[in-house]
Amino acid sequence: MRNLRLTRLFGVIVVSLACQAGGAAAAEDRAALPPSTTYSEGVKVCTECHDDEHATAIMSGPHGMAADPRTPAATKGCESCHGPGGEHARQEKKFRVAQTLEGHSEEDAAERAEVCMNCHGKTAQKHFLTSEHSRADVACSDCHDVHSRNDKVLNRVTQTEVCVDCHQDQKANMNKFSRHPIREGKVACTDCHNPHGAKGEHMLVEATTNETCYKCHAEKRGPFLFEHEPVQDDCSECHNPHGSVNDQLLTARPPFLCQQCHNDTRHPGTVYANANVASSNRAIGRGCTNCHTNVHGSNHPSGVTFRR
Ligand code: HEC
Ligand code: HEC
Ligand code: HEC
Ligand code: HEC
Ligand code: HEC
Ligand code: HEC
Ligand code: HEC
Ligand code: HEC
Ligand code: HEC
Ligand code: HEC
Repeated sequence: MRNLRLTRLFGVIVVSLACQAGGAAAAEDRAALPPSTTYSEGVKVCTECHDDEHATAIMSGPHGMAADPRTPAATKGCESCHGPGGEHARQEKKFRVAQTLEGHSEEDAAERAEVCMNCHGKTAQKHFLTSEHSRADVACSDCHDVHSRNDKVLNRVTQTEVCVDCHQDQKANMNKFSRHPIREGKVACTDCHNPHGAKGEHMLVEATTNETCYKCHAEKRGPFLFEHEPVQDDCSECHNPHGSVNDQLLTARPPFLCQQCHNDTRHPGTVYANANVASSNRAIGRGCTNCHTNVHGSNHPSGVTFRR
């Protein structure tokens, strides 16, 4: 409605005249207003003033499906999330809505999530409040842009942008020489992680790292006649799933990778250091995996040393 547009226009003028601190103070002033305690008569009351695209788009998405009795549209409308807004709608200058839901204020992250959990607490998000995210004061709306028609985090290709905004080290990893095809949208963070929380560690989608990898690299599960202990144990002993400067996502280059564990093998354990290297035509200039080609395990009757 014109009312709000005028208020906004006025706001812009005030802000452009005043210094930044003045603008911040204005937002704080609103937060200091008393919260409304009674509900209004529905969405239309709110959209009288909040008629811009950002505010109204939400009612054309899943939250606006009035035919579905579980949605905000079928219950308290805007106030399903924002809480009572009756006094605010009548006297916007003197009252605010009960829940503004904005910002990254650490104290209120759980409170902001609770609003959503009222409806989403029994579905895929049921572990959220005990997740690493919730415990680190990340709320639903720090990832989800519920008012937008295209919530970036719901799209596999744009999702990563949202995640690496906070996880800067994964952004660096993603651009390394060897990496999963995340930038291409073929693999997404959520193929391996459940950002809403999970039972296992690191919010992995499966109980362990290995089970997570087997989803796509099933051949590495075996069973093998001859197993290589660290492979069954934890793929990340040798691979960094987020990216590496070494070939094949390896945490180190062979022979160094292998030598972290195999120091005293009968033959050239330490290719570049041991006295027997000079006499060993096997090792010089070659990686361990030139001979030990099946490091993940072998089913060959004489594959005990993973060479076939
Ligand atoms: C008479 C006009 C008017 C009506 C009706 C109205 N609002 Fe507002 N609302 C405003 C103004 C003005 C602001 C403050 C600044 C801005 O948006 O730029 C505001 C701010 C808000 C904010 C931001 C947080 C805050 O309090 O500063 C939310 C959320 C909000 N309104 C929700 C609602 C909801 C939900 C309803 C319906 C119950 C509603 N509004 C009805 C005018 C109105
Ligand atoms: C599903 C929950 C939900 C519903 C329903 C909802 N909102 Fe919001 N709203 C939020 C969240 C979360 C934020 C803060 C962050 C953001 O913008 O996503 C917000 C922010 C806002 C803001 C402040 C940001 C701005 O644009 O200045 C306004 C105003 C607002 N909502 C108005 C409304 C109105 C009007 C409706 C009904 C047409 C509505 N909201 C329905 C969750 C909701
Ligand atoms: C009044 C109940 C209610 C509240 C409150 C609510 N939601 Fe929803 N939400 C639903 C329903 C119902 C759906 C659609 C069915 C479904 O996917 O479960 C939905 C769908 C969604 C979707 C999927 C959107 C899509 O495009 O597929 C997201 C994301 C979401 N909600 C996030 C939130 C967040 C974040 C909040 C809190 C700011 C919130 N919801 C608050 C009921 C609610
Ligand atoms: C760390 C970022 C992050 C946070 C925090 C987060 N989500 Fe999500 N959410 C996602 C991503 C990513 C997807 C897409 C999932 C996929 O592709 O498997 C998603 C999908 C959804 C969906 C649609 C699919 C489904 O599982 O039904 C809903 C609904 C949803 N989230 C609600 C919520 C609610 C409610 C909260 C807070 C309790 C929340 N989310 C917190 C990142 C987040
Ligand atoms: C191919 C699977 C996979 C993909 C894709 C993936 N991760 Fe991970 N992530 C893991 C595994 C496995 C661990 C546990 C690593 C360990 O034990 O060292 C982990 C650990 C983490 C950790 C905690 C430990 C650390 O290194 O800081 C964060 C944060 C993380 N991942 C974020 C992300 C983000 C953000 C994305 C998307 C850009 C992503 N991950 C994509 C598998 C994956
Ligand atoms: C608003 C900032 C923010 C966003 C956005 C965000 N995270 Fe996080 N995430 C955190 C914080 C803070 C922690 C807890 C501290 C840490 O381990 O870095 C965390 C923890 C994690 C962990 C667990 C780390 C562990 O050690 O167990 C994983 C996995 C993770 N995030 C993945 C994701 C994915 C995937 C996305 C995108 C869908 C995402 N995060 C989006 C802030 C964020
Ligand atoms: C969602 C499916 C998916 C999951 C889960 C997955 N990967 Fe991958 N992985 C891929 C794809 C796709 C490629 C690229 C294959 C190609 O380019 O031919 C790949 C490639 C690799 C490569 C070879 C990289 C190179 O440089 O050629 C390694 C090593 C690898 N993954 C390890 C892992 C580990 C370890 C895990 C578990 C933490 C894992 N992957 C989980 C899909 C997945
Ligand atoms: C002992 C170290 C080690 C462990 C543990 C390990 N890998 Fe590897 N992986 C390697 C090496 C070395 C290569 C490079 C292969 C070569 O040069 O022949 C490789 C290559 C790969 C490749 C790409 C080439 C191919 O064989 O498809 C994938 C995928 C892969 N590993 C997945 C996994 C998965 C999944 C796990 C856990 C089940 C795992 N790795 C555990 C050392 C390891
Ligand atoms: C995280 C530690 C670790 C890493 C890294 C590692 N291994 Fe192993 N490897 C083991 C363990 C443990 C065994 C089983 C115990 C044993 O027989 O020494 C084993 C067994 C073997 C065996 C069979 C020994 C036998 O007599 O049965 C070979 C061959 C082998 N590893 C080669 C390699 C190669 C090649 C690499 C590098 C690509 C490598 N390993 C990396 C821990 C590791
Ligand atoms: C030129 C081929 C070749 C290269 C290179 C090579 N190996 Fe071997 N390796 C063998 C052969 C052949 C055997 C089995 C012979 C034996 O039983 O003595 C073996 C046996 C082993 C064994 C099991 C025997 C034991 O001593 O426990 C381990 C462990 C091993 N190699 C690790 C490595 C590591 C680590 C590297 C890299 C630093 C490496 N190998 C490089 C050919 C090679």
